[in-house]
Amino acid sequence: MFKEKIDTNNLPKHIAITMDGNGRWAKTKGKFRIFGHKSGVKAVRDTVEGAAEIGIDFLTLYAFSTENWDRPKKEVDALMSLLVSTINKETTTLMDNNIKLTAIGDLNSLPKKCQEELQESIEKTKNNTRTTVILALSYSSRWEILNAIKQIVKEGIKEDQVNENLFSQYLTTKGVPNPELLIRTSGEQRISNFLLWQIAYSELYFTDVLWPDFRREDLFEAIVKYQIRERRFGKTSEQIKEEN
Ligand code: IPE
Ligand code: IPE
Ligand code: MG
Repeated sequence: MFKEKIDTNNLPKHIAITMDGNGRWAKTKGKFRIFGHKSGVKAVRDTVEGAAEIGIDFLTLYAFSTENWDRPKKEVDALMSLLVSTINKETTTLMDNNIKLTAIGDLNSLPKKCQEELQESIEKTKNNTRTTVILALSYSSRWEILNAIKQIVKEGIKEDQVNENLFSQYLTTKGVPNPELLIRTSGEQRISNFLLWQIAYSELYFTDVLWPDFRREDLFEAIVKYQIRERRFGKTSEQIKEEN
């Protein structure tokens, strides 16, 4: 059991997860890709509950990238209706667990029904305080960075006022600490346009587990492995030991 091995005094405040491998999971079972997506919902529920259970403040889940719009229409449509039904059904789980839902990405590009369902759940859960789940939907980090630059230019902000702190305020993750840990399932070791600015110093954790098989124990394992790493932020190991 990895849960007992977690040092609760050294928890990451924010964990981001790229939920990958649904299609391959379905293929190993001789099923269509969408069956993999549907099966991934259980993994989402268990992971979200696990994060709340141990006291993670923010959990960002990469659910749909801007690039995913280029998939076959049938798959995109199925994913969108799955999103609608899942948000609808899972809002009770969120309320029961005192979890707040928010979303980042180009939300206006989602189908109307999806936007409505999402807004309803965001509104319902807005006063919950245990864990904030941030869904990345139609999200692209380059899109987000360009938007921030456009906004800064539009507001006529002076060059000497632009710094890391100001820039962060123009990103969709405004007010959310940078993730200390980024997990990607399915064995792929790439970022795929996710939180490029925010993960500058995140610990990256890759697991071969395909998303539909991911459970809270896998999350706890990732946290335990994260906690034994030494985060140096450019300094030497000796300096870090002295500071602690
Ligand atoms: C992740 O699983 C879910 C989405 C990107 C929407 P994939 O659908 O990418 O599954 P693989 O990578 O093809 O196995
Ligand atoms: C990244 O997965 C996006 C999500 C998990 C939502 P993809 O499967 O789309 O990424 P690539 O194409 O393998 O980089
Ligand atoms: Mg994939």
